[in-house]
Amino acid sequence: MSAPDEMTLTDLEPERAQFLAEALAGLRKPRKEFPCKYFYDERGSRLFEEICELPEYYPTRTELGIMRSHGHEMAAVLGPRCRLVEFGSGSSEKTRLLLDQLESPAGYVPVDISREHLLRAAADLARDYPEIEILPVCADFTRPIRVPRTKASADRTAVYFPGSTIGNFTHDAARELLAAVHGEVGPGGILLIGVDLVKEPALLESAYDDAAGVTAAFNKNVLVRLNEELGADFDLDLFAHRAVWVPDPGRIEMHLVSLARQGVRLGDEVLCFEEKETICTEYSHKHTLAGFSSIADDAGFDTLQVWTDPERLFSVQALQAK
Ligand code: AVJ
Repeated sequence: MSAPDEMTLTDLEPERAQFLAEALAGLRKPRKEFPCKYFYDERGSRLFEEICELPEYYPTRTELGIMRSHGHEMAAVLGPRCRLVEFGSGSSEKTRLLLDQLESPAGYVPVDISREHLLRAAADLARDYPEIEILPVCADFTRPIRVPRTKASADRTAVYFPGSTIGNFTHDAARELLAAVHGEVGPGGILLIGVDLVKEPALLESAYDDAAGVTAAFNKNVLVRLNEELGADFDLDLFAHRAVWVPDPGRIEMHLVSLARQGVRLGDEVLCFEEKETICTEYSHKHTLAGFSSIADDAGFDTLQVWTDPERLFSVQALQAK
């Protein structure tokens, strides 16, 4: 699948050498970890989309509901001729609810790490929104990226960061990322961000350990990638999926638990696992409204408006750069 001829892809996808270096760096630590951005190859992105449809996984449908109910108010905050940049755009499903409401947007810049996925979503959007210039960027948005300029001049830049991807970041890292976004949008610029909220632990844990085992397959997909792309020899049957709520600082942690004492080859090394030793593959932080507002404030943003669902499971927040 390729993008239409008139669409140019800015390709900054991390390469194999970097994948190996980052994998090794995490797996050599005394407390083994693996960067969660590597979940999202073709297969991982597909599994993630399956997760979003699961009955236990409340965030996607809740956020979509908030977008449907309040998209027009969000569009009013962004204003006319806005250049919309999206971090971790995936299938851009929520973005459509925003694009439908925006007044004469100057362009849409989806940024995602999964190239095929990004190009497909961008091509679909270009077909459905022929009047909006679409400028896809394949990149790891946690590194500085030069956002391409749109042909139409923009009154302001807004970053859209839905899906509670911010939950992957520790509070310190979230502060840093928001500060980088501040640099990108400039004073007066808007960050429209989806933030998942603290709730009952049982609800959270089942959202990350579903009955159908899709989240387990998603988690184990990182081992498939290490085997297929880096020639590692992880035995998938000797690792189990686990999701736990950690009250302080308030996050779900996903782990892969070694079911035996074992050695696994990766690159030129043999990694040793004790029985029950884990690889931490993801943090998914849940915030309180006050807690997140304080992080935003530290990063130079005022909280302009907060939209939630009636049960207060999830929030979408408009922050303005001071
Ligand atoms: C895409 C990071 C928001 O943390 O809920 C879903 C990823 N991991 N199920 C999340 C995820 C396991 C998701 N984010």
